[in-house]
Amino acid sequence: MDAADIRQDLEYVLFTKEQIAQRVAEVALEIDQDYQGRDVLLVGILNGALMVMSDLSRAMKSHVEMDWMAISSYGSGTRSSGVVRILKDLTGDITGKHVLIVEDIIDTGLTLSYLVQNLLSRQPASIAIMTMFRKHGTATSLVDINYIGFDIPNEFVVGYGLDFAGRYRNLTDVGTLAPHIYS
Ligand code: IMP
Repeated sequence: MDAADIRQDLEYVLFTKEQIAQRVAEVALEIDQDYQGRDVLLVGILNGALMVMSDLSRAMKSHVEMDWMAISSYGSGTRSSGVVRILKDLTGDITGKHVLIVEDIIDTGLTLSYLVQNLLSRQPASIAIMTMFRKHGTATSLVDINYIGFDIPNEFVVGYGLDFAGRYRNLTDVGTLAPHIYS
């Protein structure tokens, strides 16, 4: 679905699918250049990173491996709970590998800082972070983010993998919700 299909549910569109595709291609190029000759293990964080993982990996020219983790952070509301729990761990061993975490969005950074500590203890060759969206005011001191798709205002957004109460992940554009949806 695109924004026109759910006009009533959205306040405004932040990024169209064309803008997102363009930016993903630019970030993929940057990553390709940085990792020249080294295989990368992309670790996608379910469920939100589904779309960016799929598009980013296909926009890259290097060989990649892919693995997934699922972590609980948000319930069905719009604020970070601070509760971080591994719901699904990686399938493979990351020892000696160049790990690139692929995230949908970083808000407080709590989820990611926990994750980085956890993965570092498994002795990868390196760990870097790519996030499609970073909210303004993110606690950047918690983690270093290597690749950012877009910086966005501190508002709750949906689409391109991001949900509200399980919905809107399949929205191809990214936008803010109309207040009547969450109030
Ligand atoms: P953090 O731990 O506060 O950085 O939260 C990160 C996680 O919260 C993301 O991976 C998303 O699953 C979720 N999240 C944060 N902000 C939003 C948003 O605006 N829309 C949808 N999900 C969000």
